[in-house]
This record gives sequence, C-alpha cells and structure tokens, in this order.
Amino acid sequence: MTAQNQTIRTGLIGHPVGHSLSPQIHEYWFGKYGVSGRYSLIDIKEANDLAASMRSLRDEGWRGFNVTVPYKQDVAALCDEVDGAAAATGAVNLVTITPEGRFLGKNTDAYGFIQSLKEEVPSFSFAGKAALVLGAGGAARAVCYGLKQAGIEKLYIANRTEEKAAALAANYGDTALAWAARDGAVAGGCDLVVNTTTLGLGGHESLEYDFSGIKENTIVCDIVYNPLETRFLQSARHRGCFVVGGLGMLLHQARPSFYAWTGVWPEVSGVLRKKIEGLL
Ligand code: ATR
Repeated sequence: MTAQNQTIRTGLIGHPVGHSLSPQIHEYWFGKYGVSGRYSLIDIKEANDLAASMRSLRDEGWRGFNVTVPYKQDVAALCDEVDGAAAATGAVNLVTITPEGRFLGKNTDAYGFIQSLKEEVPSFSFAGKAALVLGAGGAARAVCYGLKQAGIEKLYIANRTEEKAAALAANYGDTALAWAARDGAVAGGCDLVVNTTTLGLGGHESLEYDFSGIKENTIVCDIVYNPLETRFLQSARHRGCFVVGGLGMLLHQARPSFYAWTGVWPEVSGVLRKKIEGLL
C-alpha cells in the first residue's frame, strides 16, 4: 500500500457546507491521534446528484462522510442499512462505507446532545424527569429521541407550526403545547427546557421566552452555538437556571464519526473546545 492509499478520506456533504466547523474538529483529532486523514467539504447543489455523488466517494475509496442540511433525510433513504437513531429520526448525519461498498447510515445528533448535557451537568439524572422541547424540526426529532432514550419520562413539545409539534409528540405518546403557551405553567414543572429552533442563531431574531414561572436550577439548553450564549440562555441565566449552550453538542456529535472511520474514540478536550470557540 502506498502512503497515499493509507490516508483516510472523509468529509461532509450538504448545501451549503462552507460554514462548517467539522473540518477543524476532525483535523484536530487526526493530528492529536496521529492518524493520516483528510476531511473535505463537498457541496452538492441538487438532490438529484446525491446518489451519484455518494457512489463517486465510494469509488474514490472514501471511508465515509457526514451529511448536513438539506440531505439528512434523502441520504437515509439511500443507505443500505440505518441504525436505530437514524430510523427513529428519519435522518442520517454519518455514513460509513464498508470494505464491500455498502453505505451504513447513523444519526449521532441525539448522542451529541445527551453527551454534552451529561458532561456539563453530570449530576442530572434523566429518569422520571419532564422536559419541554421548543421546535419540531430535524434537530428536535434528534433531541426528543435522545431524551427518551436517556430516560426522560414526560416530553412537552411546542412549535410555531403546531401540527408538527403534535406529530412529534404523538411518536412518544407525549404532549404538544400551543406555541403561544410555551412559557406558561408547564415550564414551571419541567426539569429541562431545550431550544431546538433556529431562533437566536447569528443574524436570526431571538427566541422570546418568559422565564418568570420557571423553577430555579432548571436546566435550560440551546442547540445554537453561534453565539455561544444566545439571548434565550442569558435570560435563563438571569432567572437562576443552569444553562448549556450548543457547542458541546456540535463537538460530541462528531466523536462517533471519527471512531467509525478511524477506530479511535476521540475526546472533547478543553483545547479543542477553545480552538473551535476561537473560530466562531
Ligand atoms: P433543524 O433541522 O435545524 O431543526 P428545521 O427542520 O428547518 O431545522 O427546523 C427549524 C425549527 O425552527 C422549526 O421548529 C421551526 O418552526 P416551524 O416548524 O414552525 O417552521 C423553527 N423556527 C424557525 N423560524 C422560526 C420563527 N421565526 N419562529 C418560531 N419558530 C421558528
């Protein structure tokens, strides 16, 4: 085998992909663990080109790739096999290409969210607790799946488009709330509140939320990581809540990908976190 052949080829497919921080995360780990690898960004403008692009990556000898918007669902349909999290969320963000050329799809977003929460609030036990999830898009599906797998007993889901909240809640036999009722009495009984909407993301308007009814020490999470602390989290902090930003989820969701392609289980170190924070 030549040195060229030994370089592990991986990357990200989506549209757009230019903003992604995944190359910096994986390249940090390639360096840290002494693995010869390359993580490339592949912008695929048309969904019609997806299947052919996946075959090209396989023919070029890629070990696998990540998938971002808007193709997580399309890729799930193109995989030969998907894991439980991908089947439950209908979305694949990690593909491994086997030596036989099969595409194995996984979803690591649920894992990333739960791991980040466990790292930042190690004392929190999920069993028997209630959580309010704001939003009902792709990220919400992963967060709800992760929370249920981790043992959360009761989910409340509120979304601007209320039918989507109802559909997601029905999956788990849980409760959808009217969007206008999102900050009402229920939050007072919840142990955890999670924003999965895109509100608060750099350039977008903020998520308006009235924390006045919330219990002190409630954990409030935002999956947005840029800015590191959204106005939603700042308001929660002022009410005495424990806040968890989205950067940890971004870093932790990358770990199973690196492991799948290299066999090395990477750590989310303080150095990595600082490095990525510096790029925001
Ligand atoms: P993602 O994959 O990041 O979850 P998505 O599937 O497009 O992205 O979901 C975006 C989420 O943000 C949805 O819950 C969306 O609400 P709708 O289902 O009503 O579209 C929510 N969202 C986006 N803009 C919003 C806004 N201005 N007000 C309230 N919710 C908003």
